[in-house]
Amino acid sequence: MRIDVLTLFPEAFSGPLQASILGRALAGGIAEVQLHNIRDWATDKHSIVDDYAYGGGPGMVMKPEPLAAAIEDVRGRVEPRGRTVLLTPQGRVLNQGVIDELAAEQRLVLVCGHYEGVDERVREHLVDDEISIGDYVLSGGEIAALVLIDAVVRRQPGTLGSEESLLEESHSDGLLEYPQYTRPAEFRGWRVPDILLSGNHGEIARWRREQRIVRTAKRRPDLLDAVALSDEERRIAREATDNK
Ligand code: ADE
Repeated sequence: MRIDVLTLFPEAFSGPLQASILGRALAGGIAEVQLHNIRDWATDKHSIVDDYAYGGGPGMVMKPEPLAAAIEDVRGRVEPRGRTVLLTPQGRVLNQGVIDELAAEQRLVLVCGHYEGVDERVREHLVDDEISIGDYVLSGGEIAALVLIDAVVRRQPGTLGSEESLLEESHSDGLLEYPQYTRPAEFRGWRVPDILLSGNHGEIARWRREQRIVRTAKRRPDLLDAVALSDEERRIAREATDNK
């Protein structure tokens, strides 16, 4: 997969793109991220990329010319043109379903908005999709793009997270993850649940499934409607919500 990022602040990406699982995936060629500075497409001698809003009001708006030129130029460099995604608090809200949809693309062109937003004509005519990472406002789309890149790249075959799709990762099947423990079996008098030390894999699997249901019922009951549960599991969920 190839991801092109159009931004006014390419330096915001260097640290996160090099760290941990994401860094390893990119270094190993599982995905490629190309950063482009929108300012490079400005044509005046001061490289101006923003201007006052028509109609007045506070804040600046990203000018259409450099941004449009950047999108079209970068998009045309390789096939396929892929999907052009604007990061904006007005977009559809990101979740694992949206991530899996984007992860299936061979190519993404991510556009990071800044200032009070981008000129509406660019959004309307040159952008295929608009994504928000949540109902709050960041100072720009860069951190949102990083969130999207991390979640999409770890779904690529060969990255940790891709093989786990059928396992019990939070949100992979609509349920939250079960609680995790490692050694020691007792820490400050707090014990690991006995069942996990029992070696009985069938019982452990059953306990973990129940923990996932209880956890989701208590913390994120909104998620449960979309999950297929047996009658017994529905009862467990109801009890967990009642005893919260
Ligand atoms: N830019 C500013 N806020 C944002 C958000 N919540 N999601 C995506 N891009 C943004």
